[in-house]
Amino acid sequence: MTDRPVFWKTTEKNIYYRIEALEAVCDRVIEELPWPGNIPTLSFIFSSSGPDEYAALHRNISGRYGARLVYFAEKEKLITPKCADTAANIRIKKAGSLDEVRQLYLSTVLQVFNEEFPGELPDSRMKFSENVARNYLSSEKSLCLAQGERVSGLVTVVGIKDYLERPVDCVNWVWLDKSLGLPERIAAQCLIVKWLKQIVAQRVNCYIDSFNFRSQRFFRRIGFVPLCLNIERKS
Ligand SMILES: CC(C)(COP(=O)(O)OP(=O)(O)OC[C@H]1O[C@@H](n2cnc3c(N)ncnc32)[C@H](O)[C@@H]1OP(=O)(O)O)[C@@H](O)C(=O)NCCC(=O)NCCS
Repeated sequence: MTDRPVFWKTTEKNIYYRIEALEAVCDRVIEELPWPGNIPTLSFIFSSSGPDEYAALHRNISGRYGARLVYFAEKEKLITPKCADTAANIRIKKAGSLDEVRQLYLSTVLQVFNEEFPGELPDSRMKFSENVARNYLSSEKSLCLAQGERVSGLVTVVGIKDYLERPVDCVNWVWLDKSLGLPERIAAQCLIVKWLKQIVAQRVNCYIDSFNFRSQRFFRRIGFVPLCLNIERKS
């Protein structure tokens, strides 16, 4: 490994480079690399992400690019927050029909994108989520949480392949109601990690936008580590 990017491979949608540290990726590095116009995503596989990937990305990569991190964890290395998971009246709500899951997924995605990150995401992302809802979600790999009768959390997992073409379970959405207090959040995280340990096969990943600080912190807290950065040109 080196702090200069080293070409690894090209696929239909990605061109991959290896680099020592996430910190070394910046606009200049991106601009100097061969990145054919017909390949939408420039990917950097790195071995060190430093202590604060959010700060590194904001320091080094301008608004001209969309940046998403891919985090990974081994099932055994997932960290369950210490708490009594019966605390705070947070419980697993029996997932209803798949349509209910789809509806909750799409309404929370839309709400978060419009209210928390207005203008950050292209319209294509919502279309992507609609496609995921229609074709990939399943009741078995969806977890609904409730506080009393109020739905207060959702986690969905889909099976995909990683950049080594290995099967991996991808946490493609996690949402916790904004109004939850800290004991409820910790209880929810506890239920989420226990559930993930039950349903994932071995490795698990997730894709998190560079601006989604809370989500980055959430996945770090439960044992995920960023290993890949995907860059897209904003049109
Ligand atoms: C991503 C998400 C599920 C993480 O939830 P979370 O782990 O409870 O973390 P949050 O940052 O929302 O928590 C709010 C506060 O509780 C604190 N907190 C949460 N869990 C904690 C824990 N286990 N220990 C100590 N503090 C904790 C956080 O530090 C934060 O405090 P702050 O506001 O002073 O920084 C939640 O932020 C969310 O629903 N976001 C919108 C949906 C989204 O973007 N999903 C990601 C796409 S996959």
